[in-house]
Amino acid sequence: MANQFEDQYHRKFYYLRLSITDVCNFKCTYCLPDGYQPAERKKPSFLTLDEIRRVTSAFAACGTTKVRITGGEPSLRRDFTDIIRTVAEQPGIRKVATTTNGYRMAKQVKDWRDAGLTHLNVSVDSLDPKMFYQITGENLFHQVMDGIDAAFDAGFEQVKINTVLLKDLNSQQLPQFLAWIKDRPIQLRFIELMQTGEMDSLFQRHHVSGVSIRNHLIANGWLLKARANNDGPAQVFCHPDYRGEIGLIMPYEKDFCQSCNRLRVSSLGKLHLCLFGDHGVELRDLLTQDSQQAALIDRIQSGLQEKAVSHFLDDGNTGMTPHLASIGG
Ligand code: GTP
Ligand code: 5AD
Ligand code: SF4
Repeated sequence: MANQFEDQYHRKFYYLRLSITDVCNFKCTYCLPDGYQPAERKKPSFLTLDEIRRVTSAFAACGTTKVRITGGEPSLRRDFTDIIRTVAEQPGIRKVATTTNGYRMAKQVKDWRDAGLTHLNVSVDSLDPKMFYQITGENLFHQVMDGIDAAFDAGFEQVKINTVLLKDLNSQQLPQFLAWIKDRPIQLRFIELMQTGEMDSLFQRHHVSGVSIRNHLIANGWLLKARANNDGPAQVFCHPDYRGEIGLIMPYEKDFCQSCNRLRVSSLGKLHLCLFGDHGVELRDLLTQDSQQAALIDRIQSGLQEKAVSHFLDDGNTGMTPHLASIGG
């Protein structure tokens, strides 16, 4: 193995979040309230299958064991199943995950599984169909629920659900969510709303901390689980009476970034060292031939030395990320 990717704070990077498109067909109020708007008129040229193979192979050569394929909405790409297969084929990659809005799952999740997808995260912001529509702009609650059932039928042992916590909307629905996971192998993760470059009043109105949920869980017998080195950012709680688990993603907590183990590559081939705040390191010119791998690894490793110790969100920083669809969350 080439040298393990490591930054100057001795954080090691086992987890690549690879965005394959920034297009999305939902209009989540906290992300793309007006729907997807291309930055330019001409169609962006997203990473090709060969470029995806080369970037994944370079990361795998330096210790990455998990790749999450993100968007926008990754399943909008027609070659999504081929992308999963290509990522899964790279030696050293043990987990191939995706985060989806669930739109295509009912029809395609079995193909994804057969192609090598091992982990699946689905956004579901409310279990009430009307509120789901209010938050996502799409009347597709039942289609997404069918997709989750199809995932279990296809053989996924667990599905993770992402719920962005919104005050006055879903944050009052903890009892419904807990009832839903009582007998289902679901890890339901509450994500604290993050303020991005294009969102201000919504953040002021709806941001709510996950601390009250954590206090409620601890007071009711939920236990914090230990982390593995390629795990995502959630603190995960389990309970002997529940088949499901609860995860909390609290990016405003002090020390959130200490355990950062992930790097991002955008759908246009830039390395992003953090979800917030960096312009990105161009990689695309080193993705044209397999023989460029050593140079690609060198560029990633030296870019990595610029990774900041923290995203400093609590200072009111919204970074340069206009919304999370632009970089894959
Ligand atoms: P697992 O690997 O299954 O635990 O998933 P994950 O939580 O890493 O991936 P997912 O795509 O489901 O992300 C859930 C949320 O966590 C998204 O809103 C991400 O933007 C957020 N998130 C993931 N990594 C970071 C990070 O490094 N910083 C911040 N601020 N948020 C992050
Ligand atoms: N704050 C928190 N989570 C967000 N997501 C998108 N935008 C935000 C935001 N501003 C979540 C989505 C999806 C995941 C990839 O990111 O709900 O589950
Ligand atoms: Fe699309 Fe995900 Fe953004 Fe919602 S949060 S608009 S599903 S990219």
